[in-house]
Amino acid sequence: MTEVTLDSVGLRFGSYSALQDLSFEVPRGQFAAIVGPTGCGKSSVLNLIGGLLKPSAGKVFSAGREISTINRDAVYMFQQDALLPWKTALENVMLGPLLRGVPRQQAVKDARLWLERVKLRDLDARFPSQLSGGQRKRVAMAQALINRLPILLMDESFSALDAQTRALMENELLELWQEIGATVLFVTHDLEEAIAMADRVLLFSAGPNARLKGDYPVALPRPRNVAEARFIPGFAEIYETVWRNLREEVMAAYAG
Ligand SMILES: Nc1ncnc2c1ncn2[C@@H]1O[C@H](COP(=O)(O)OP(=O)(O)O)[C@@H](O)[C@H]1O
Ligand SMILES: [Mg+2]
Repeated sequence: MTEVTLDSVGLRFGSYSALQDLSFEVPRGQFAAIVGPTGCGKSSVLNLIGGLLKPSAGKVFSAGREISTINRDAVYMFQQDALLPWKTALENVMLGPLLRGVPRQQAVKDARLWLERVKLRDLDARFPSQLSGGQRKRVAMAQALINRLPILLMDESFSALDAQTRALMENELLELWQEIGATVLFVTHDLEEAIAMADRVLLFSAGPNARLKGDYPVALPRPRNVAEARFIPGFAEIYETVWRNLREEVMAAYAG
């Protein structure tokens, strides 16, 4: 079953052609990482899948349906969390269920469960300003995952965290992902993170007219410990292959 399809997608902003003839499919439940030089169109591709942008050419499908408006099957996690500062951790996590009309008591119950899953059980009454960066990220993760939507769109979600917190969060995300079975599109500028997390790495070429330059399977065993993934036999070979290709695009983007 294919969850996400881009079929010969082109995307223009005025006279600038960001993407051209971009096609790929992501099967249900796959963890797909997207890498490429700055400005190649990674965030734009997430926005196309989220239904926030419309392609100038070609089509985008979600679970077989062409996306024509906001994709209700997809939830975002950005680098900056979207927590409301005047609401507690619990209230922030409850937002999605309440918006979908889940009765308040049930929403409280679900939100508590998710705060427990992200190891914040005792901090549910705290406001975002009373939480550390890692704790806020955990709340944001619970806030996104509680909706149990089939598609998770992650745009540099962990980039702003310190290295140790980041590795912890990455491992926790992988555990939760394996539990809920969502399809993940994970944009990162960090190739090591991409390979450590993903089933597959999609490499975009430099813009304008960015396209799919490479599609690399990551057949490393799971469960993985992200902080130690680089020591798994096979990791270095994948890294080297993708890096050689990525480097050319980074240089092209820099030169252009
Ligand atoms: N709303 C917009 N208007 C004009 N140009 C845009 C807009 N959004 C993105 N772009 C351009 O499209 C290209 C791809 O942007 P983006 O998807 O943000 O790249 P990435 O996430 O890979 O860094 C960039 O050249 C960017 O400047
Ligand atoms: Mg971006």
